[in-house]
Amino acid sequence: MKKYNVGIIGATGMVGQRFATLLENHPWFNVKVLAASGRSAGKTYEECVGSRWAMKTPIPEALKNMVIMNAEEDIEKIASSVDFVFCAVNMKKDEIKALEEAYAKHECPVISNNSAHRHTPDVPMVIPELNADHINVIEAQRKRLGTKRGFIAVKSNCSLQSYVPALYPLDAEFGVEDVLVCTYQAISGAGKTFETFPEIVDNIIPFIGGEEEKSEQEPLKIWGKVENGVIVNADKPHFTAQCLRVPVSDGHTAAVFVRFKNKPSKEAILAKWAEFKGTAQELELPSAPKQFLHYFTEDNMPQAKLHRDLDGGMAISCGRLREDTQYDYKFVCLSHNTLRGAAGGGVLLAELLAAKGYFD
Ligand SMILES: NC(=O)c1ccc[n+]([C@@H]2O[C@H](COP(=O)([O-])OP(=O)(O)OC[C@H]3O[C@@H](n4cnc5c(N)ncnc54)[C@H](OP(=O)(O)O)[C@@H]3O)[C@@H](O)[C@H]2O)c1
Repeated sequence: MKKYNVGIIGATGMVGQRFATLLENHPWFNVKVLAASGRSAGKTYEECVGSRWAMKTPIPEALKNMVIMNAEEDIEKIASSVDFVFCAVNMKKDEIKALEEAYAKHECPVISNNSAHRHTPDVPMVIPELNADHINVIEAQRKRLGTKRGFIAVKSNCSLQSYVPALYPLDAEFGVEDVLVCTYQAISGAGKTFETFPEIVDNIIPFIGGEEEKSEQEPLKIWGKVENGVIVNADKPHFTAQCLRVPVSDGHTAAVFVRFKNKPSKEAILAKWAEFKGTAQELELPSAPKQFLHYFTEDNMPQAKLHRDLDGGMAISCGRLREDTQYDYKFVCLSHNTLRGAAGGGVLLAELLAAKGYFD
């Protein structure tokens, strides 16, 4: 595989820092550009993030002295010096839409962690194990944008990456009908640490703006189909969600209740989870977990602190599968929100696109 030069737009933020660490020794991707707002532009990466570096490993040596570029003003320069960019910025939705389209129109593909384009019908929203085929819509998007190379591809919201991967492999045979989910979401999902979010200690906050809508609606795009140059959302399964912020640094947990068209046995569900492999595993993408879905038989597992880093933080942990009195089954799932749920999911999506030739 040839090596691609990449840029990180929003490199100073929580997700941007995660990209910087994940790409440090990446076999296919080489970080050539770091960009952020005008507040950071012109400073070195170390000067900018030194005091707010939130990762457990140090700032990558090769990036420390790299001078941050202005993500809005240097588009042409950035687009011409990289093969594609990762984008994770904290801006208004319409500003993000415009920024990402500007990069795409400068023939620079954008792999986005932002929500702005998740509902644009010709922008694929991909979990590479589940709906890798949605990247086929890129051809139609390029036509709309009038580009040869440029396009936008997004990853989904972090909360649903804990429960959708467990439900999706059950649907074809058993028909997933109704899902009730409560998520218990880590503070890094709000770009916070315990130092910057002291009010979460000894507390639960029962509201995360916009999260319940995303948790209910985004799965329907994942379940959708490419038809006539757009992704047509599925109308099932039906999701209802409550999302709570809890005092956990990393790792979103979901408590899931599910009703099927054809109720399977518990053994049949466990077998589907154990054997499930997606395109990411078939293509042996560098960031793909070997085993996507892990099932823990112990009653007190999975736990965020113990299992969020499983397989580089890219695997999904499940447990407590049992029959329910109102739904067919209930179970618990966990995924790392800034790895699988954010930067890691973005890197895996970029690997899928690289393997399929979309950056050539
Ligand atoms: N945290 C998560 O777990 C998570 C998960 C999934 C998706 N996301 C999404 O990822 C995005 C970034 O989240 P985050 O938690 O990393 O946010 P963050 O820590 O607040 O970082 C925001 C980044 O955006 C940059 N930025 C702000 N205004 C800008 C502008 N006008 N032009 C260019 N860059 C600008 C900032 O640069 P400066 O430092 O120069 O201000 C910084 O690099 C958001 O859309 C968020 O919804 C986050």
